[in-house]
Amino acid sequence: MTDIDSLQARFVDTLAASGDVSDPEWLTAFREIPRGPFVPYYFTQIPELSSWVLVESSSPTWAEGVYSNHPLITQLNGDDTRTETARRGQPVTGVSTSSSTTPSLMASMLEALDVQPGDDILEIGTGTGYNTALLCHRAGCDHVTSIDIDPSLVSTARDRLTELGYQPHLAVQDGTKGYAAGAPFDRIIATVGIPGVPREWIAQTRVGGIIVLPLDRRDCGGLLARLTVQADGCAQGRLLPDFGGFMPLRHLDRHDAADRAFRAIDDGGDQRPTTLPVDIVTDEADPFEFFTALTLPGGGWNHLTFTPNNGNPTETWIAQGDGSWACHTTGTDGVHTVRRGGPVPLWDRIETAHHHWRHIGRPTRDRFGLTVHHGRHTIWLDRPDSPHQWELPALSSP
Ligand SMILES: C[S@@+](CC[C@H](N)C(=O)[O-])C[C@H]1O[C@@H](n2cnc3c(N)ncnc32)[C@H](O)[C@@H]1O
Repeated sequence: MTDIDSLQARFVDTLAASGDVSDPEWLTAFREIPRGPFVPYYFTQIPELSSWVLVESSSPTWAEGVYSNHPLITQLNGDDTRTETARRGQPVTGVSTSSSTTPSLMASMLEALDVQPGDDILEIGTGTGYNTALLCHRAGCDHVTSIDIDPSLVSTARDRLTELGYQPHLAVQDGTKGYAAGAPFDRIIATVGIPGVPREWIAQTRVGGIIVLPLDRRDCGGLLARLTVQADGCAQGRLLPDFGGFMPLRHLDRHDAADRAFRAIDDGGDQRPTTLPVDIVTDEADPFEFFTALTLPGGGWNHLTFTPNNGNPTETWIAQGDGSWACHTTGTDGVHTVRRGGPVPLWDRIETAHHHWRHIGRPTRDRFGLTVHHGRHTIWLDRPDSPHQWELPALSSP
């Protein structure tokens, strides 16, 4: 057994021991398909320079990174010339536009997909091709279609898959339109964040078929949904218990939206104490964090944290595209203070949402579900006819 083989074996043992993969067939797929051939290089960040360097398979640290339960950034700005520059040893800047997803997250989404023999599957977001290979292993290549908006990623994924003996149907296509040429499908899995379920996905799924997707609410929530398509054209199901943050669809320009949100912050703003720490909305492990993604108008926000070098407390800034913002600090005495500005009192709304969440018994994310009907997206607590319902804002319908 080579060092790489033993790293791969250890990595899958860890996934199994942690309970991240419980289905023996998916475990076999993870065992038999190494991640390495799909991620021959990845970017790592140098925070102090706000830039990235490339880790290639020739590097001594590459294998530890690949055979670990971490996401790996594989493309910046949809621009392969940055990879070439980084390959010459120069740090580069940019925002991530493709990655290999965290393996435990891939596993929980694949398990939620509940693939049955003979199912025809559409994957949206081919990326490196690793998830596609796992789908091929499980369902057979003839039953797998995978699309990505980026032609160079599709071409590279095709080469890597062919090398391992897999020849699924791959196409360059904007995922928001689904893939009519291959429809109908029994399963659709999206590995890119999308604000809502396009009508095309529902129309292209057989009745009883399943759609698993990450709902993009900007920096909030990491919401994963598993929906079953019904005869009346409705898609309905539960949110998954796991956090599932994904990069957004390219056309959403979320990074530009974040820039715009932070540029729109005006001076001043009134300041007051608050009883709530900022972690409730920035820490994905906090049981309340996802709730803001459901309930706040605007559907989410962007946030950034920085520590001034003048000894003042760390500031966490939260901003929405309409210029609403809040700046939260916690003094050495533990007192929380918030400064707010812009058209909507963002922190007041967070406090109201937190109060509401406590009032309904602090429910965890898996108690919620989503119904999509005629483009309307309704989140409910416990059951579809619950008195507790939230309509996702219009942004959720691409
Ligand atoms: C997180 S990566 C997918 C990871 C992939 N499944 C893997 O195993 O490597 C997200 C992918 O979605 C793609 N993407 C972004 N916007 C898209 C769109 N509108 N339609 C289709 N694919 C899109 C990106 O090019 C990127 O490759």
